[in-house]
Amino acid sequence: MLKLLLLNNILLLFFATISITSCFKIQNDGKELDWWQKTIIYQVYPRSFKDSNGDGIGDLKGIEEVADYFKWLGVGAVWLNPIYKSPMVDFGYDVSNFTQIHKQFGTINDLKSLAKKLESLGIKLILDFVPNHTSDQSVWFKKSVHGIEPYTEYYVWKEPKGTDENGKPIPPNNWISAFDVDPAWTYNEKRKKFYLHHFHSKMPDLNYKSPHVRKEMENVILFWLDADIHGLRVDAVPYLIEAEDFGDEELIDENGSKNDYSNLKHSKTMNQPETYELLREWRKLVDDYTAENNSETRVFITEAYTDLEHTLKYYGTPEEPIAHFPFNFELITRLDAQSDSYDFADVINKWLKEMPEGAWPNWVIGNHDRKRIATLFGPEMVDVLNTMVIILPGTGINYYGDELGMENTFVRWDQTVDPQGLVLGKKKYESGSRDGARTPMQWDNTSNAGFTTADKPWLPVNPNYWKLNLKNQQECNQPTHVKVYRKLAAAMKHPTVQKGDFQIYTPSKSMIVFTRTLDDNPTFIVVMNIGSESVQPDLSSVVSKLPDEVYVYTASINSEQNEGDQLSTNGKTFWMRPKSCLVLTTSNIEVNLSEGNNVQCSVVTITILTLIINSVI
Ligand code: NOJ
Ligand code: CA
Repeated sequence: MLKLLLLNNILLLFFATISITSCFKIQNDGKELDWWQKTIIYQVYPRSFKDSNGDGIGDLKGIEEVADYFKWLGVGAVWLNPIYKSPMVDFGYDVSNFTQIHKQFGTINDLKSLAKKLESLGIKLILDFVPNHTSDQSVWFKKSVHGIEPYTEYYVWKEPKGTDENGKPIPPNNWISAFDVDPAWTYNEKRKKFYLHHFHSKMPDLNYKSPHVRKEMENVILFWLDADIHGLRVDAVPYLIEAEDFGDEELIDENGSKNDYSNLKHSKTMNQPETYELLREWRKLVDDYTAENNSETRVFITEAYTDLEHTLKYYGTPEEPIAHFPFNFELITRLDAQSDSYDFADVINKWLKEMPEGAWPNWVIGNHDRKRIATLFGPEMVDVLNTMVIILPGTGINYYGDELGMENTFVRWDQTVDPQGLVLGKKKYESGSRDGARTPMQWDNTSNAGFTTADKPWLPVNPNYWKLNLKNQQECNQPTHVKVYRKLAAAMKHPTVQKGDFQIYTPSKSMIVFTRTLDDNPTFIVVMNIGSESVQPDLSSVVSKLPDEVYVYTASINSEQNEGDQLSTNGKTFWMRPKSCLVLTTSNIEVNLSEGNNVQCSVVTITILTLIINSVI
């Protein structure tokens, strides 16, 4: 018996030593948190959310029609992908007029009406700002091609390097477009020069060396601030300015392909010091406007797919801030179905540790450019990942439909419209096309999932809509993804989840445990089994000072446990299925979801538990 005890202790010790723990404290100098720190930002891809006029394309009126859903779900801000005038080569990221609304989406009055509706629901509105490029159909570009001042230098024009043996002009350098294997340069017969396009050839890059361009884009920012929006998500920031010498990019592998974007080092085309400077000026413009108008914070969020060091630099410094936060894409770019708990903890810890002091974290788990989480990690992981994004410290960002566990839709080659898929051709398009993650929101089980009355939406609805849809998940008398999500969203209003200290443990390859603790408040303990086997966690051996009993606040739908269940933390007292998670609390937290999604704590239990915890300490 003694031997057994000894062995047990040795095992426990071993267990504890392999468990990596790491902690993080929210630093807000005792200040009240701001609106953007206390909410989930819900991303709406307008073409795919709700169609109000039966043309098969989502629009602003459609979003307004279903806006009560945001309130019901408990999200506090909505970000819309571009709604501006555009030839739609890149579905709105090729903007031909930055201050006009594209007619398929509606009118400026429709936008005002939507903003008013959201305001009445207490929900903020964030718009996309696309400063790196315009459409080639922009009047600016047309005038630039014709050398009409002051537009001549609005874009990045360069002389050819010479001509090849067929007399064809040679691009100025070896830069490759991020969209395909073609040069980032296109020759214009009229101007007899190449223009730069880091993305599609129909999306020429603006030239920020031109003071006129700078002024134009400042006016665009002010135009939208005047329209009372609550913030901007700034597109593709690393590409704003190029290295002065326009020299060749270095190859990563000298023997590798010279036409492969991923084989170039991008030190000439991305994250230039002047880019940070320009963004700093825009942030100041936004802050000054906000101060002058005595309005609530207008949030400034940057989008950059780059290494962690350069991404984090987009926070700026406390003296010279840039973004309120740069999108944190680490969860979707560094992890997938192969990742174990150590990989997850590493990604989470790196962001929290390397973020500048006092900066605010955020977590993205999907968007219109990446595979949906249910497809990237597997459908059983949906609740686990949504729990992570919401209960980790910081702002959570949700891509429409991920709260339901929507999956990537198979889109046939002849239905493909995404330029990033089209350039790859029939054989390879599936690996690069973003269409599958952009298909219509699945509202109900009626024709086209209730998205449109048209016979054919702009992209096909996922054939699983008859069972995977919002209405089904709302009305079903079993736990569903959206019900779990709603419970999680409500938790985000809890002081512990907003401001609590964070500690993460990885007791095994498949287990992630993290806690959020705040003085005089219940503790949240998140327990995840991301492995392939069932496990019996022994919580008290992982997290110290836990009370003997904890409550299930919410549980992934594949759990054996139910909301409100009491679990013992001593020993291996309960099982967790593979890919399941539990959000536990040290007191029973009651949430009144029917009335505005408020969190109310049971004060009696808190007091008793505080007494118990204090006496243990
Ligand atoms: C990033 C956007 O998210 C993506 O959809 C777009 O294609 C590129 N920027 C170019 O604007
Ligand atoms: Ca429409």
